[in-house]
Amino acid sequence: MYVCPACGETYSLASMTFRCRCGGLLDLAPFEPRFDPRSSGGERSIFRYASSMPPFSGLEEAWESARSRVTMGEGLTPTVPFGPAEPGLLVKVDYAMPTLSFKDRGAAVLVAAALVAGARRLIQDSSGNAGAAVAAYATRAGLGCDIYTPASTSQRKIAQIEAYGARAVLVPGSREDTAAAALEAAEFGARDGSAFYASHVYNPLFYQGTKTYVYELFETLGGLPDTLYAPLGNGTLVLGMYHALKELRSLGLIVSYPKLVAVQAERCAPVYRASVAGRLSVDPVRNDGTEAEGIAIAAPLRGSQVLAAIRELGGEVAIAPEAGLSPAKKAAAARGFYIETTSAACLAAYFDRRARGVDEGRVALPLCGSGLKSA
Ligand SMILES: Cc1ncc(COP(=O)(O)O)c(C=O)c1O
Ligand SMILES: [Zn+2]
Repeated sequence: MYVCPACGETYSLASMTFRCRCGGLLDLAPFEPRFDPRSSGGERSIFRYASSMPPFSGLEEAWESARSRVTMGEGLTPTVPFGPAEPGLLVKVDYAMPTLSFKDRGAAVLVAAALVAGARRLIQDSSGNAGAAVAAYATRAGLGCDIYTPASTSQRKIAQIEAYGARAVLVPGSREDTAAAALEAAEFGARDGSAFYASHVYNPLFYQGTKTYVYELFETLGGLPDTLYAPLGNGTLVLGMYHALKELRSLGLIVSYPKLVAVQAERCAPVYRASVAGRLSVDPVRNDGTEAEGIAIAAPLRGSQVLAAIRELGGEVAIAPEAGLSPAKKAAAARGFYIETTSAACLAAYFDRRARGVDEGRVALPLCGSGLKSA
């Protein structure tokens, strides 16, 4: 069930609702996740962890059939040492996905849920990667799809969205202008029941997909490293990691949390600012122009929730220096990893912190998007 934390109202997971009647953002009602790393099922996709996802009560068969209809074997990405010069650093190659970014984790879950809800058309807004992922899974599921994206988005991401047969709606202006245009279309679509808003920001089911990042690490390594890095724009990976870490702890599989380091771009860092100022809520900032387009979210809708999650885990928000992005991208390529600039942000923050003498023990860091995505 979806639940509104502001007023307590609940909604079925099979509904097309994307926001509470009171205007609040929805979360998932508490449920008991199951996970046994020794028998997580033979399935070769993120749905090997389906028992850790919320039950579609009364709709189990529809949910299972939707999952098998949409999956492309996403997940199960390699975790490998970065290289001999960085002995403590493991990278998880999360661009090794059907649409070349980690967003497939969330998109697979969301599109399967849209099928259960009886959607025929999806609406999404994205700086590119989430849009490409939702477009691919929508096509696979036989659903129509409109992706709203800033007109400034990389041509290659737009070409990818259109290649899947989705309609790319290019919105002039900021990422926030794009979000507003999509919201209007989604509200219109929800009114006549024709469109499902497959938003990675509004729909909390997306984080049930991104949380498999941590489950996989746990399964591959037989435990978790000391420090987990994550990029932070809207926080879809951070929120997924939060859920997985809480679940692993409540299942008794870990006794303490690894250190979470959530990384923002120096020129667009609203959550970082709130964090260092000791504030509970995140105020919008101006995007001063960063090459890390994927995390350039000046007004993250779930910003305060993300900040609270990081604090609860004892984590930290860090900055990727703008001047460090290009060197980090080159350093990755020199180790065989061709990543997009946004993806270099975690690596840039890691190098910066190491240069300042921060000791983080064994670190795992995601490589989230392929270098083929941006020019
Ligand atoms: C490559 C890449 N890394 C990181 C992110 C940041 O994810 P989020 O906005 O969910 O925090 C994105 C978002 O689009 C992305 O495309
Ligand atoms: Zn409400």
